[in-house]
Amino acid sequence: MIRITSHSLTGEPLFHLRAGDASYVFCVFHGFLLHLYCGPAVEDDDLTPLLVKVGHDSVVPRPADTPEGWFSLDIAPQEFPVWGTGDYRPSALMIRCADGSAATSLRYVSHEVFAGKPAVDAQPAVFASEDEADTLAVILSDPGSGVTVRLLYTAIRALPAVIRRAVVENPTDSPVTIERCASASLDVATWAEPAELLHLWGTWGRERTVQRTPLAHGTVSVSSRRGASSHHHNPFAALVTARTTETAGPAIGLSLIYAGNFEILADTDPFGSIRFTAGIEPTDFTWRLEPGESFVSPEAVLSISGEGLGKMSRTFHRLWRRHLCRSEWADRTRPVLVNNWEATYFNFDSEKLLAIARDAAACGIEMLVMDDGWFGTRNDDRSSLGDWFVNEEKLPGGLSPLVERINALGLKFGIWFEPEMISPKSRLYDAHPDWALGTPGRDKSVARSQYVLDMTRPDVRDYLFETISNVLSSANIEYVKWDFNRNLTEAASATLPPERQGEVMHRYVLGLYDLLERITAAYPHLLLEGCSSGGGRFDPAMLYYAPQYWTSDDTDAMERLDIQLGTSFVYPASAMSCHVSASPNHQTRRVTSFETRGHVAMGGAFGYELDLTTLTDEEKDLIRRQVADYHRYYGLINRGDFYRLILPGDTVNGKTGGCAAWMTVSEDRSEALVTFVVIRASIHPVYFLRLEGLDPAAKYREESTGAVTAGSTLMRAGINLTSARRGGWTDGSSVVMHFTRI
Ligand code: DGJ
Repeated sequence: MIRITSHSLTGEPLFHLRAGDASYVFCVFHGFLLHLYCGPAVEDDDLTPLLVKVGHDSVVPRPADTPEGWFSLDIAPQEFPVWGTGDYRPSALMIRCADGSAATSLRYVSHEVFAGKPAVDAQPAVFASEDEADTLAVILSDPGSGVTVRLLYTAIRALPAVIRRAVVENPTDSPVTIERCASASLDVATWAEPAELLHLWGTWGRERTVQRTPLAHGTVSVSSRRGASSHHHNPFAALVTARTTETAGPAIGLSLIYAGNFEILADTDPFGSIRFTAGIEPTDFTWRLEPGESFVSPEAVLSISGEGLGKMSRTFHRLWRRHLCRSEWADRTRPVLVNNWEATYFNFDSEKLLAIARDAAACGIEMLVMDDGWFGTRNDDRSSLGDWFVNEEKLPGGLSPLVERINALGLKFGIWFEPEMISPKSRLYDAHPDWALGTPGRDKSVARSQYVLDMTRPDVRDYLFETISNVLSSANIEYVKWDFNRNLTEAASATLPPERQGEVMHRYVLGLYDLLERITAAYPHLLLEGCSSGGGRFDPAMLYYAPQYWTSDDTDAMERLDIQLGTSFVYPASAMSCHVSASPNHQTRRVTSFETRGHVAMGGAFGYELDLTTLTDEEKDLIRRQVADYHRYYGLINRGDFYRLILPGDTVNGKTGGCAAWMTVSEDRSEALVTFVVIRASIHPVYFLRLEGLDPAAKYREESTGAVTAGSTLMRAGINLTSARRGGWTDGSSVVMHFTRI
């Protein structure tokens, strides 16, 4: 719902967006757009009394045409601050006009309201019907240059989520250059208590590690300049207070639907107001806007919670599942797969794959995925990317006979691609050296012996679409793993003029979207899984096309606790691809029981990644039970509400890093699945767990013990797990408990 009134100070418009149980309020004041409130719902519209009227005239310039002596853009809380006219804090927008000047002043022109969420362009975006959302467009204009900005706000009716983006339009007759354009900015001016930024950092094998950083005066930012959203920081941060926990306190999550360079920053001014901004990272970004052209920023999503981080995460989960993942697989039960990467690496042929497939079929596994190494002359990672033609030495007769035999075993078949890459040692590079990104006169940096294709070029994308289509049409291929294993360097395009080279990084991402759009439109039934050296580009933009993403190349169950629970801050279980792999684990050499590896992998889209032909009969029996369990609990795990109970870094009974726990509860609270893992056992351990999200008035039966307990007891007093495991608690041991309302 969007309420539009006029406020008491100047009578100009005031906008109150109600999204779920949250309010987002801003107003027009002498033409400027001022932010007033973002948080749990408030009844009043006119929140202008919250405006702070302080500041010393000599250090805070004020617009010449505003009568109020206290008013300065350097102090006022703003919705979309611009550069050069008195606000010295980080700007949301900076444009350079044809005369070289960069001072801009955005003033309100008009607004429009729409039911639903109109599509703006072909970039990934939240979708919602006319019954599910309301959208407000506020049109602003810079009197000096004539450039206009449309700020778009969508309030989702059933969820405390507000979606924002900016569209910069050039109605003038001279070109302008955008040097900085955020998707969303808001100034949180009323918290008046210690604030923190929670974000997810990482690297290869350690994606999405949770970090909370106290905010001091100055700027804290997270970003990627790698050409992809990256392992290093996820395009997400949450503004919280020092007292925010999983279940209490304010949290404003900000997530950018973008697969490229991004920056999210929190800047604290001298009066304690925090500017929270998300958008394209401005390093090596410029965009030339010719007369009549417009530039559409990526979308940013605010998840607003007054009840802690758990609720913020659950809002993101629902939003992505119901309003972002477009795949017909978004809500469907995914096949349990076995991937041959950690089973064989590059060393496989049809017979080896069939041997794995036979054992897979006998264990109830539903799909075989053939990973890297099936094309060109690729027997290691030094060649052939771009040559998407079957290596018939490995797969005699091509894909069709292999897939037919795998299908005959009752298994689906999936395949790996790394479309955006080119090996210097490839037929493609011999034919088209200019198809790789590169700066004339400079060597190209290599990573994993490969270069990056120039995805800004339509001819490159046409080639990829055709070669990938040829493969997909050659056999019954029902799944694709879309990998991306290096970041961009020397990012210049042979086809763009000098004044547009600053557009390459963003045009690359738009080119990637275009190819993904074409592939998903041509193969609507395909299950697409994203991947980037593990989870290096695990972001909402990729989830728009691919409902699941390979979470990390680190498949060690204990390491996965950090990675999967960190990922859960923003992404639902249904998006996290999680596999049981060999023990000792290939990345850490750690030995973990088959049972625990299964319990942890069941935290997401479940599968296996090991050589099934080497397993014992007992292990194969366990796989049968795990697959059956996964099918039983699929709806609960993937469509239920997720609660983090103990993070691996938490201190429990004086021990830090000793255990982890999480649970999912069905939307109607009739069922719950709880997983508890002991990471490091100790002498005489004492474990209690308080559950979340149940109906306190109902009674629940736990399946394995038959114990009947009230929801109120499970949530308030908790359960005693001290003796819950037969044989006692050892390093890497776990239990899963299933509760049903009676
Ligand atoms: C990186 C991925 O994360 C792995 O799962 C695997 O597909 C390799 N690439 C193959 O090169």
